[in-house]
This record gives sequence, C-alpha cells and structure tokens, in this order.
Amino acid sequence: MKFILYIGLIIASCHGKRRQDRRFPDDFLFGTATAAYQIEGAYNADGKGENIWDRMTHTRPHVIKDMSNGDIAANSYYNYKRDVEMMRELGVDAYRFSFSWSRILPNPLAPYKVNQAGVDFYNNYINEMVKYNITPMATLYHWDLPQKLQDLGGFLNPLFPEWFEDYARVVFENFGDRVKLFLTFNEPREVCFEGYGWSTKAPILNVTDVGTYLCAKHLLLGHAKAYYAYVNDFKSTQQGQCGITISSAWFGPLTDSEEDHFAAEIKRQAEWGLYAEPIFSEEGGFPKELSHIVAEKSLEMGYKQSRMPEFTDEERKLVQGSSDFFGVNHYSAALVSATEHKTFNPVPSLLADIDVGIYTSPEWLSSASTWLQLAPDSIYNALNFLHNKYPNTIFYITENGWSTTSDAGLIDEDRITYYRSALNSLLDTLEAGVNVKGYMAWSLMDNFEWMEGYTELFGLYEVDFQSEARTRTPRKSAFIYKEIIKSRVIDP
Ligand code: NOJ
Repeated sequence: MKFILYIGLIIASCHGKRRQDRRFPDDFLFGTATAAYQIEGAYNADGKGENIWDRMTHTRPHVIKDMSNGDIAANSYYNYKRDVEMMRELGVDAYRFSFSWSRILPNPLAPYKVNQAGVDFYNNYINEMVKYNITPMATLYHWDLPQKLQDLGGFLNPLFPEWFEDYARVVFENFGDRVKLFLTFNEPREVCFEGYGWSTKAPILNVTDVGTYLCAKHLLLGHAKAYYAYVNDFKSTQQGQCGITISSAWFGPLTDSEEDHFAAEIKRQAEWGLYAEPIFSEEGGFPKELSHIVAEKSLEMGYKQSRMPEFTDEERKLVQGSSDFFGVNHYSAALVSATEHKTFNPVPSLLADIDVGIYTSPEWLSSASTWLQLAPDSIYNALNFLHNKYPNTIFYITENGWSTTSDAGLIDEDRITYYRSALNSLLDTLEAGVNVKGYMAWSLMDNFEWMEGYTELFGLYEVDFQSEARTRTPRKSAFIYKEIIKSRVIDP
C-alpha cells in the first residue's frame, strides 16, 4: 500500500513538473493576425483602387449574410496607432497583417506608378510597430484582388504570375528594409476553390473545378516568381524570409479501415496537397493520386483532357522549393469516410472530384462558424503530419482562433478554452521536434468575416461597429493570451 502511494506521489510530482516545464522558447514569436480588407476600411480613400470585395459587396450585397461590407470595417486605416497600442497591451512579439494591392497600385498594370498615400500608410503602420519592437509579418495577398485584374480574368489569366511578381517587387522595394517575414498568398485553397470553383468567396465565379485547378497553377507560379524576385534581388541586402500560408485543417479517417485512411489522404491532397506538394515535396508537381483521379474523372465527364493543368518541367522546377517556411492557418479538423455519407454532422465534401463523407465529432465544442470546432490534438496531428512529409521545413502558425456570435460580449470562455487547448497541442508539437517558430492568433480584433459579414467575430478585442470611432475593448481572452505570452506557459 505504502509502495503504491509512493509511486503515485512520484507520478503526480513528475506530472506537475512536466506541466510547468512545458514552456514556449523565449525566441518563439507570439503574435496576432489580421488582413487589409477585413479591418482597414477607407475603401476609396486617398487614391485606393477598387478590389473584388468592393465590387462584389457593392453590386451584390445580398451575398453577404448581413448585407454588410468592408467599406469602414474596424477603420484601421485611421486607427492604426490604437491597433499598435493594443499589440503593446498584449505584449506580442509579432503582428501579421496584409497589404492591399489596390491601395498600393490602383492601376496594377502600371507598377511603376505607385499610390504614394497608400505606401505612406503602410510605412507609418510598420514604423509604429518597429518603434515598439513588434516584428511585422506581412502578407502580400489576402483575397482582395484589384478589380482591374479580375476584369482580365484574375487568377485564370496566364499573365497572372507576372502581375503578381510586379506587385511583389513594389512591396519588397518599399517595405523590405523593415519587414523581414513575407508571405506571398493567404490560403490558396480559399482563393481558388472558393473564388473560382464553388462561389463562396469573391469573385464568385462558378467555373467549376476547371477554375480551381487553373487558378492553383497560376497562383503557384506567381508565388514562385515573387519568391525568386526576393531571393535574387532583395534577400542579400534585406536578409528576410519569404513563405506562403496554406490552410491546413486536419483530416483524419473516420474509422481505422484502409478505405477511410485512403479517403483521408485524398482529402488532404485536395485541400492542401494541391498547393503544398508543388512547393514542399522533393519531386514537385501536383499530388499524384489526386492528379490521377482528376484525369480519370475528366475523361469520364467528356473533357478532352484532365482539368488539372500540367506544369512544364521548367515550371515544376521553379515552384519546387520556392519557400523559406510553411505558414499554416489551422483551426479545426474533420473525419473522412470512404463509404458513410450520412451519419453525424455531415458537411459537404468539397471538390466535386472527391467523393468522400466528411464529419465532425459531436463531442467537439462548437463555435459560431459551421466549419470550426475544437478538435483536441488537431494542431499536433496536422503539423506532425506535415513535418514527416516535408522534413526540415520551418513552420509558422499564421492563424488560429475561435468565433463567437455578434452578441457574445466580453467574457469569451469558449475562446479561452480553445486557445488553451490549441497551445497545449502546439507544445506537444514542439516536444515532438517539429520546428514551429511562431503562432499568430486570429484575430487581434473583430473584423469583417467575408461572406458572414459581422455575424461571426474572432477578436481578442471587441470592436464596437456601431460607434463612429470603432472603439476597441479587450475581451477576457486578451488578458489570458497576454499572460501566456509573458510567462511562456499555458497555465501560469
Ligand atoms: C482564414 C482567413 O485567412 C481569414 O481571413 C478568416 O477571417 C479566418 N480564416 C476565419 O474564418
């Protein structure tokens, strides 16, 4: 009896010690994230050009759940000093934001004529961060394509990679002396599949999966051209890094059957592999099994050839390896079945080419967003998988967060539960040897949640959208995140 008690005490003390020992390294970058269209407002101020979200929300307001738009949003164009003050209140090491292409280049086809007021805005914003030792992490494209480029077909135009490279050069030239972490694109899947294949994001062009795959190819070429522009012409003087952010939810099998494992793998290839494999795999090119399925289906459907375009050898080599790190936007998980299509909580299987059932567990805590549940261990599962697939890769979590409804108020216990669970899973990931260098919470403040308007809120800070000043107030989660950042442990 005494012996059992003794062993029990040892286990308890080891466990206690272990929890305390589990800390984030001092040089780990804790931050928050936002995106231009979601927070800036000032949609037509100081020479900014029109983008596809301006056009869509103004001409088809009913496509947004509350018929709102980002015309004013959190008004960060005018409130940026308060935003940086909030970063300081939280004690963040880094801040991820995005540049608005049409604010910098109102005529994107004329990259030698920048809109100086737009450049000044980002200079002031970045200088304010740098003044307080906050590391800027900047995304070049977070979904707000200049409308002029969309009029020419947007991502479906084979000239897209060139347009993007021109824009990227303007960004590196103007801001690369202070910004050392660049991301080319935010979430290619959402850009291509949701914008061009499935009608759930601007420009809502439902050109089926032909659009998705063509967009994927041009986006990846644009990314690679921008990356090499940086590497060849800026990196040696600016000494920064350039990567891409891919949404990487975890897709695991519903059961342990071989079929479900294969279905989960195909789902992963369709959701992230399509964009990650050409850059991060040894061989480059689109994922093999997926390419095979799409080619077969295309012929069955009467197409002359696969709807998934090929890369030439030269293109494949250009894209392969074109990233200094892998930015992961991670929120949730789903369980994939090869056979069951109608059990609990089914959500639509996304690409039409992939005939699988997608489920969430009823045990997972639900947020205000249909697609977002707290799936414990999902960060560990996703990152460990990516690490094994692409060894030696550096990762940043560029987004992770939780939504509430618009009347949820300041006491956001579910968000706190979510962040604690996610960060615990991240510590497991670091302990397993995965090289994750930073974590950006989505979001610093409430903002325009795309098709959901202001009905789903992700902010650590609440924004009062009724007030002209767009007053910001910290939620309870902001205080908890601040403690975590300061102590580097989850339960200080
Ligand atoms: C990912 C997107 O990058 C961001 O813009 C969006 O608001 C969050 N997910 C939440 O849906």
